[in-house]
Amino acid sequence: MVRKPLICFLIVINAVSGSYDWHGGWFPYTPEAGVDNNPVATIRQNMYDPEHGVVMGVKNRQCDDAKTNLQIDWDFNPVNHTCFVLNRRQFFAPRSDIHPLHSQDYIPKAYSAPHKCMSEPINYNVIVPTFGTHRPLWAKYGEYVFLPRQRWVHNLEHGAVVMLYHPCADQNEVNFLRKLVKNCLYRHVITPYNLLSAERPLALVTWGHRLEMSKVAPEIVVDFIRKHALKGPEQTARDGQYDLMLKDHSGIVSDLKDRELCKEIVE
Ligand SMILES: *[C@@H]1O[C@H](CO)[C@@H](O)[C@H](O)[C@H]1NC(C)=O
Repeated sequence: MVRKPLICFLIVINAVSGSYDWHGGWFPYTPEAGVDNNPVATIRQNMYDPEHGVVMGVKNRQCDDAKTNLQIDWDFNPVNHTCFVLNRRQFFAPRSDIHPLHSQDYIPKAYSAPHKCMSEPINYNVIVPTFGTHRPLWAKYGEYVFLPRQRWVHNLEHGAVVMLYHPCADQNEVNFLRKLVKNCLYRHVITPYNLLSAERPLALVTWGHRLEMSKVAPEIVVDFIRKHALKGPEQTARDGQYDLMLKDHSGIVSDLKDRELCKEIVE
């Protein structure tokens, strides 16, 4: 009760004089300090996101700018996108007796995938992940010379269809699958992936689902895309930020939101 009049007194003085000296400090940095100059402010203030730990889609050199420390996800070894064989006959022959294999991961509705900065490795315990921890910046839509999974897993979360093919997969089958995917939706990513088996060197992945194939079955592919595309927990058609080795940027098929999937494809 004794202090109240004192506080009023100070405010009056300030209002009268119009300016005053302020002795204090910002902790840990002033709000104007450049983001790139203070890592603590960067991660704790600008990049913090209560759901994922690190906010998505914001370029930041200290965390992820889609340019720095990319080797942590891929060492740029051409083995990951090249088939080193002496002749075409050594490519994996498509087999109609090996049926397409659809598998599903049951992801709890409450699951929220963490984002990790480029200072930390991200490992997956399956060959073809359908969900999981990923990088804050996702990939621009389209076809890549090679795109690491830590990027495309983020695209899955946004509802994308990811097409993977072994570099030694039969080229006609790869071309056929690519054409179907590109004519089905804008929100796709295509990349080679040499960890697929020789038995089923072609795959489509969506959030929670994977379809592995030896030979393209068009009706199964179209059905898979219609059922499982655009079902990730964070629907957005917004394009990504990562575009290293992007060789063909996606084109619109029906509209930006892919409201009509595989509309030109007649079965
Ligand atoms: C690249 O290929 C090697 C050899 O198969 C494999 O061990 C590695 O995991 C692959 N890297 C990526 C990023 O797929």
